[in-house]
Amino acid sequence: MVNLDIQAGRTYHNATKHSHRSIRTNPHFLDWGNQPLPFKIYPKLELLPLPRRFEEGGMPALRAIAEVRGRESAVPDLQNLSQLLHFSAGITRRRAWSGGQIYFRAAACTGALYEIELYLACATLPDLEAGLYHYAADEFGLRKLRTGDFRRVLVEATANQPSIASAPVIILCTATYWRNAWKYQARTYRHFGWDNGTILANLLAVSTSLDFPAEVICGFVDADINRLLDIDSEREVAFSLVPIGRLADSQPPPAEHISPLGLDTVPLSRREVDYPAMRMMHTASSLVMPKEVADWRGGTPMRRHKEPGGELLSLEPLGDKEIPADSIEQVILRRGSTRQFAREPISFVELSTILDRSTRGVAADFLHPFGTSLNDLYLIVNAVEGLPSGSYFFHRERRGLELLREGNFRSQAGDLGLEQELPADASVAIFFLADLEAIFERYGNRGYRAVQLEAGIVGGKLYLSAYALRLGATGLTYYDDDVVSFFSPHAEGKSAVFLVALGKSTKQRGLRS
Ligand SMILES: Cc1cc2nc3c(=O)[nH]c(=O)nc-3n(C[C@H](O)[C@H](O)[C@H](O)COP(=O)(O)O)c2cc1C
Repeated sequence: MVNLDIQAGRTYHNATKHSHRSIRTNPHFLDWGNQPLPFKIYPKLELLPLPRRFEEGGMPALRAIAEVRGRESAVPDLQNLSQLLHFSAGITRRRAWSGGQIYFRAAACTGALYEIELYLACATLPDLEAGLYHYAADEFGLRKLRTGDFRRVLVEATANQPSIASAPVIILCTATYWRNAWKYQARTYRHFGWDNGTILANLLAVSTSLDFPAEVICGFVDADINRLLDIDSEREVAFSLVPIGRLADSQPPPAEHISPLGLDTVPLSRREVDYPAMRMMHTASSLVMPKEVADWRGGTPMRRHKEPGGELLSLEPLGDKEIPADSIEQVILRRGSTRQFAREPISFVELSTILDRSTRGVAADFLHPFGTSLNDLYLIVNAVEGLPSGSYFFHRERRGLELLREGNFRSQAGDLGLEQELPADASVAIFFLADLEAIFERYGNRGYRAVQLEAGIVGGKLYLSAYALRLGATGLTYYDDDVVSFFSPHAEGKSAVFLVALGKSTKQRGLRS
């Protein structure tokens, strides 16, 4: 079983670390004339337009981000699908620049390169024929790739995952190498998890708001899903599945024969550059048999954290009656990555609310029991009222912060964040670190996908929670080993996975309610 050859995962991770040296000696430059298209286009298939009537008055954002719920019997219609797709991966802003237009999307994405595509497989819905569809974000519609009910393929590929077996709709997320590797080269495989994760944070929150059950599925037989989608897995690969809704009669009919489709798509660029390391990481983390999938899921490695060395500062989050009423859709529409932070403090209540709402748990097949996590959060606090500046560890189970080292670490935060000003100017920089060895041991190389995906989801929730409070946020990249050294000895043995900076944007000055 290739997934258990964890040397491959270690090798990929080490080879794609950023260091001062790797950044300074990398001769890569951006070939603007060969920039990939940010959309997948099937030019010969008819477009089924999605309704553009969006509901913006759903559940308060800070509840939708934090809660998991869903009716016993819940079948989405086209209007619901339109809502789910638009607020997860739809175009929410356009900006003109000298090279053309940038289409910004509902969720943050490294380099605004948007390498994640969404498809859906559904039973017959009230106003949509059973089929396999591609979501065309640029035209806001669906293109039907296959007619018929193909959900059984997904049930078998996930070894009878109950939430897949009972879902009327399953959203399939794929990742396209070249679209992101054009800028980020082999490190792109990490970005798949991050950029898929931010989309999933939105999708899970909007599903909760619509009262549809939803869960993130990372364990499946890769080749079966890629064959169903008829994607060229040297270029594009299935990364996660999300069953949406629940049917009382839970068994999808036997699947139709899966024949190749051979559909034309518009080339992304004149030429593509291959980075074999990321494709090797994908192959090394592939699951090949349903039995392997069944053994893979569940049973998150439970870790005992060191007892707090000193006083634990308990979070003081807002309760449901105190949170802003702004709906999840309103918050998604106003989200954008903060380009400059004002060096102003946020309150401890705001930081507490963001941490509390973002870390209550993610419904995922690799996070059992619910509420466990693969990532640990470490903070550099630059400016939070009532909290000494310094470095902190977040004790998730105890809902409190442990001060590791007091001091002004603004310049270190900037340096760790790839020498950018954003984490130095922010009020707080939140670093995600994980015990990769324990994850590899339990989940094989597939654990690497899971830990990046979880980071993207929790990172996406941090973004949304900050914007719900009219604060700013941005994802960031970082110098891997320097981050671990900075938080050591507490973080010894862990690896850096993700970084989000939070604070007040210079644009938002004075906007706070
Ligand atoms: C995981 C992640 C890492 C990012 N890293 C950086 C970064 O290092 N520097 C930066 O200026 N922006 C960074 N961004 C922000 C993206 O550039 C931004 O999401 C993208 O341009 C889309 O814009 P929007 O978020 O405003 O919609 C990152 C975003 C994500 C999700």
